[in-house]
Amino acid sequence: MKNQSVLKNITIGFLLLLTFILIATSTGCSNQEKQTALILYNENDPFINTFARQIEELISDIPNCQLETIDSQNSQIIQNEQIEEMAARKRDLLIINPVDRLGSYSIVKKMKDQKIPIIFFNREPLIEDLNIWDKAYYVGARAEQSGQLQAELIMGLFGSDPGQLNQYDRNGDTSIQVVILKGEQGHQDAEIRTAEVVRAFRERGFKLEILITEVANWNQEQAFEKMEHILKTYGSRMEVLLSNNDAMAIGALERMRQEDFFHDTNGNGRIDPLDEDWLPVVGIDGLAEAVKEIESGYLYGTVLNDSLTQAKAIVELSEYILGMRDLDGMNFTIIDNNYIWIDYKVFTLD
Ligand code: BGC
Repeated sequence: MKNQSVLKNITIGFLLLLTFILIATSTGCSNQEKQTALILYNENDPFINTFARQIEELISDIPNCQLETIDSQNSQIIQNEQIEEMAARKRDLLIINPVDRLGSYSIVKKMKDQKIPIIFFNREPLIEDLNIWDKAYYVGARAEQSGQLQAELIMGLFGSDPGQLNQYDRNGDTSIQVVILKGEQGHQDAEIRTAEVVRAFRERGFKLEILITEVANWNQEQAFEKMEHILKTYGSRMEVLLSNNDAMAIGALERMRQEDFFHDTNGNGRIDPLDEDWLPVVGIDGLAEAVKEIESGYLYGTVLNDSLTQAKAIVELSEYILGMRDLDGMNFTIIDNNYIWIDYKVFTLD
């Protein structure tokens, strides 16, 4: 009889323990602290800087999720070491903005071996590299779209009719003379934006004369430096400046102001394109500084590279990967084996 009651107590104790273990593991994802790392190609890049702050802020709202931000200072060697270290410290997820997007193979391979999920963003790995590991994702925007929207902005400015360009065809030769500032060679956004903006003009029947395509590596200072020579050689013929991003457009505007391409004749602190000397410059990104340039009339326009929505997608995807959100509860669709795409938009002041 005594033996029977001991056995009963042991059984009850065992069942209680089992129930406790089950409850603990099923809620473990939200109770147990998750450690993630955000690894940036270069924190000095103004677009990436804004983007990183948006991701940090959104992740700080997730309970029990720690994020450490790391700057790879534009060096793939440094970044590889940082990734190794984060893996050794058993991070639950790495959010990576690769320095060299074409070198992602070894990163994906190593993280697969260690079972650490990765979300790449902004610099798109080759599809075959991403496909090595089913927990490797990419969140980004389609570069083709940004080139097309940039072309649309300028086609509109020139009157939308390729057979009858308006006063912005300054030499009246029915062709648009353009200077292109290109981002970093090999970056999908630099290559595709440059090719696509030209293709979009030609597809709509606009004649384009490319005076020069100059690489300024996404960088404001480099664009400022390179514009000195460009303006000396092509300044008198240039009708439009197409920049692969806002930072380079701002660098170009600084040089153009210095070289008197703009005249605020009535001194109201703004440029009025219809009455004052002006030349159209367009960027891509929608940086706060670019918005100020648009407000003061210097920058004609930009295309919004919507980092806030991309950051939201990265954070929702992180929650899903970490077991804190169901697929059904996501506001973004994961397509084609682990991609989330966010649209570009023409930026307007309102
Ligand atoms: C942005 C650039 C930025 C680059 C960094 C691009 O998508 O338009 O401004 O420098 O990403 O990878």
